Amino acid sequence: MSVLLETRNVTKIYRPGTRMEVRALDDVSLSVASRSSVAFTGPSGSGKTTLLALLGAMERPSHGQIFFQGRDLRSDSDAELTRIRRKMGFVFQDFALIPSLAVWENITYPLIPRGMSGGERRKLAQSLLDELGLPEKIDKRPHELSGGEQQRVSIARALAGRPEVILADEPTSNLDDAAAVELIAVLKKTHTAGTTLILSSHDPRVLAIAETVYRLKSGRLVATDR
Ligand SMILES: Nc1ncnc2c1ncn2[C@@H]1O[C@H](COP(=O)(O)OP(=O)(O)O)[C@@H](O)[C@H]1O
Ligand SMILES: [Mg+2]
Repeated sequence: MSVLLETRNVTKIYRPGTRMEVRALDDVSLSVASRSSVAFTGPSGSGKTTLLALLGAMERPSHGQIFFQGRDLRSDSDAELTRIRRKMGFVFQDFALIPSLAVWENITYPLIPRGMSGGERRKLAQSLLDELGLPEKIDKRPHELSGGEQQRVSIARALAGRPEVILADEPTSNLDDAAAVELIAVLKKTHTAGTTLILSSHDPRVLAIAETVYRLKSGRLVATDR
């Protein structure tokens, strides 16, 4: 099985050398196999979001190394990290949709730099919306959708670039029960279709779709539940 992402002794310190210094991650080593599904759980402040930000090449570690498809990201420039992030799809706790853009534009604006035309992007958005059970919503604005629908649009955006991996940070924490169940089904289907899943959550229903569950406490990996 090939390794997609690996952390080696990764530590992340915010505001180093100040009175406000925080060791958000402390000596974390783990690897994520291609096409696997892993989840991080742990109390608020334990480092879940920080770990996803590092695995997603959005932040750099203070110490240690991160490898993506065997490549050490340490020596990569910011522009190279941006290119690597295009192989990833991100889903955030608060959906992070742009209020002034229609649903189809929200789903596909990350593809504009790839030179995709408006017509092609709209077609792609429609096919993703069909797949995710929102065929009628293509021209709506985010505020016209429920929370569950907005989160499905954010998954469509994450999938639009055909990523190797989806990183989803507490994707159900702002959803009601029914919407959470639907969202989890969408994530599970995505994984079955071959995309690697990296999740953070407190929600046992989210953790249930992960093959491996890591537990964090004060920035340290304290256990692997399975
Ligand atoms: N940008 C930041 N600047 C300073 N401290 C941060 C920043 N992001 C997170 N932290 C701190 O790092 C620790 C881990 O936070 P986080 O990764 O958000 O945990 P979780 O997602 O598990 O709630 C917390 O103490 C938090 O306050
Ligand atoms: Mg968090």
